[in-house]
Amino acid sequence: NGAALYSNCVGCHQANGAGVPGVFPPLAGHIPDILAAKGGREWLVQVLLYGLQGSISVKGANYNGMMPAYPQLSNAEIAALLNHIATQWGNAFPSGQSPFTPEEIQAQRNKNLTAQQVLAARQQLGLR
Ligand code: HEM
Repeated sequence: NGAALYSNCVGCHQANGAGVPGVFPPLAGHIPDILAAKGGREWLVQVLLYGLQGSISVKGANYNGMMPAYPQLSNAEIAALLNHIATQWGNAFPSGQSPFTPEEIQAQRNKNLTAQQVLAARQQLGLR
């Protein structure tokens, strides 16, 4: 399930989802901002499938690292993992949004994006 799959992430984003300031961005208090952005749901799936590399800013702190890709996880596993991080540490889906489905993950596969392209897509989200 999602909590067990979070073992893949805990070394960087930490058990409390707070990350490490300036090194690994927080997921706590941040996933809802991504989900609320137009295109944010699809983009979140792309981060897991293709990774993310380059300079970003999250809640006023800068990061310039490399988020590994997890294409080896199944659609059901990625859905469970995203549903976990979307609802932990006080996070919640924006009103009107439902949990991720495996079909939603499949829809982002075979796009063959690079981690740099995922960074470029992030810039379209208007995250602050
Ligand atoms: C970024 C989730 C594993 C390092 C992100 C972001 C998400 C995320 C959603 C995007 C944040 C944003 O752009 O606003 C996850 C999940 C993981 C995982 C669910 C487990 C499957 C890891 C691991 C590492 C890591 C193991 C370290 C080896 C990073 C870094 C960034 C990032 C450095 C920022 C990349 C950049 O600076 O461009 N992660 N992560 N993540 N993650 Fe992870």
